[in-house]
Amino acid sequence: MIPVSKPFINSDTIKKVNKALKDGWISSRGEFVNKFEQGLKKYLNAKYCTTCSNGTAALILGLKALNIGKNDEVIVPDLSYAATINSVINVGAKPVICEVDKHSWCIDSKKIEEKISKKTKAIIAVHLYGQACDLKNILKICKKYKLFLIEDTAEAFGTKLDGKYLGTFGDVGCFSFFGNKTISTGEGGCCVVKKKHVYENILLYKNHGMKDKKKYFHYVSGYNFRMTNIQAAIGLSQLNKMNFFKIKRKLIEQFYIKKFKNYDQFISQKNTNNCKRINWIFTSLFTNTNIKKLTNQLKSNGIETRRSFYPFHSMKLYEKYIPKKFNKKNSIYIFKNALSLPTFVEIKIKELEIISKSIKNFLNQNYEK
Ligand SMILES: Cc1ncc(COP(=O)(O)O)c(C=O)c1O
Repeated sequence: MIPVSKPFINSDTIKKVNKALKDGWISSRGEFVNKFEQGLKKYLNAKYCTTCSNGTAALILGLKALNIGKNDEVIVPDLSYAATINSVINVGAKPVICEVDKHSWCIDSKKIEEKISKKTKAIIAVHLYGQACDLKNILKICKKYKLFLIEDTAEAFGTKLDGKYLGTFGDVGCFSFFGNKTISTGEGGCCVVKKKHVYENILLYKNHGMKDKKKYFHYVSGYNFRMTNIQAAIGLSQLNKMNFFKIKRKLIEQFYIKKFKNYDQFISQKNTNNCKRINWIFTSLFTNTNIKKLTNQLKSNGIETRRSFYPFHSMKLYEKYIPKKFNKKNSIYIFKNALSLPTFVEIKIKELEIISKSIKNFLNQNYEK
């Protein structure tokens, strides 16, 4: 089976992990945690950066560090992985679901203002599938209403907007290093922060409310959201390969686009102005197509694919977070038509040819008006 994603592990990864194991630093202390954090900070040109146990933890840390909780509202897009909305609920705040843009699939900045109330504290901008949100307008709104901006950059490590890395625009940028992400640590994440006091709050919450200088004295009721030295060893070796990852992901994206661009059914996620995007898992719309039938055919040809996320509004669990003024149209359209195709740096041209041929065969035979 050609998988949708596969982590890149080479001899350097194994060497670094072995070193962590041999040195006996298998928990959250040890050379690699610090080296990985310094490396991330340098790569992203960020002011502060700290690693954590996963991308969901990064979001929770961001919210907690900004003092967001009970009686607060946070605006989230209708289309994202559940970590975005669950992190808001789990800190005790209320998510307010906002429409997504039909073309970029990210939060529709024109629909945000009407969702703002006296209780609104923050906006979580999710850079879906590596695509930048309309940060220009979102930042203007944040300034006007004095709101925090949290960037959910889980899927967009390495994407630049106006020459600046995503994750460094907001108050906190939250990254995931899950196995299918652009760089991975198995499970893992990090927070990128602008202000020192917010960064210090994140360190507190990440480490059960303790400060380094006063062990077992607790200032807040925090969590253990630390990254291990073993995870950081993997992350550091991945970060060193970032240029290679970037080139390979671009080539895969260009390959798919070239193969399908002449099909009326094929509609790519629109690039935001001045965005140099790093393609995460290549995802496109195949309109007027029976996606279920297509995924089944691909599966029988040994190709794994993935549907898009269910829009939050469509799940009973999140029904109470749908605002009065809300239009479901775009997220349903994207959900209905989107399909994610295998995207990983070691994919072979031969495999890409097999995938595109299978899809083309299907599209040629099954055109649904
Ligand atoms: C948009 C988005 N936000 C948050 C997360 C959460 O990251 P993690 O799985 O590392 O907790 C993910 C991850 O898969 C994601 O895609």
